[in-house]
Amino acid sequence: MKIITLMGSSKKKGNTATILGWVEEHLRTLGHEVESIYLHSKEINPCLGCAKCKEDATQVACIRQDDGLAILEKMAQADLTLFASPLYFWGLTSPTKAIIDRSYSLVTNYHKPDHASLVEGRRQALLVTGGGDFANNAEPAFTAFERLVNFYKGTSAGELYVKCTVPEALDSDVKNQAVAFAAKIAG
Ligand SMILES: Cc1cc2nc3c(=O)[nH]c(=O)nc-3n(C[C@H](O)[C@H](O)[C@H](O)COP(=O)(O)O)c2cc1C
Repeated sequence: MKIITLMGSSKKKGNTATILGWVEEHLRTLGHEVESIYLHSKEINPCLGCAKCKEDATQVACIRQDDGLAILEKMAQADLTLFASPLYFWGLTSPTKAIIDRSYSLVTNYHKPDHASLVEGRRQALLVTGGGDFANNAEPAFTAFERLVNFYKGTSAGELYVKCTVPEALDSDVKNQAVAFAAKIAG
């Protein structure tokens, strides 16, 4: 399976990167091809909402010529896209949100009978770390993600929320959760 992971934390050795690293390691052990994209190193400009992308359902027709376009094209090629982000103010981080907004260009005719998507039937998964509980904190980010998968006509492959303090405190329990999550999302 061709997999891309979109890492939305700035910290390369933080909670999200550590857990994502365990997930990626297990995906590779299972024989999958994993491309890891560190979003903070990319130029991903905001969606303009211009809807130019709606004029061509056959390709990623976003007019913004930046790194976001190449990432969207990789999403359209991948069997599975894994979004990984810390929770920032009950939502995903800015670069994660930026690529999600730009993925508007993957879909045409949402809510219409001819609703089409360049990621139709592909798997999408979400990994989030946060300092607080899931309830009344991380929940809205997951609800929004489930709606996004529906917008994509995709397949929800799995979701994982991990309440964290510091990376040094991430123990074998969390690693086991990461490994189980990897096995699940790769189906
Ligand atoms: C700007 C900012 C906003 C945050 N907002 C939340 C939040 O709304 N809920 C929460 O549980 N944790 C919140 N946190 C804590 C982080 O989500 C948490 O420490 C996360 O695991 C950090 O991941 P990282 O080490 O990969 O950067 C916030 C942290 C920062 C810096």
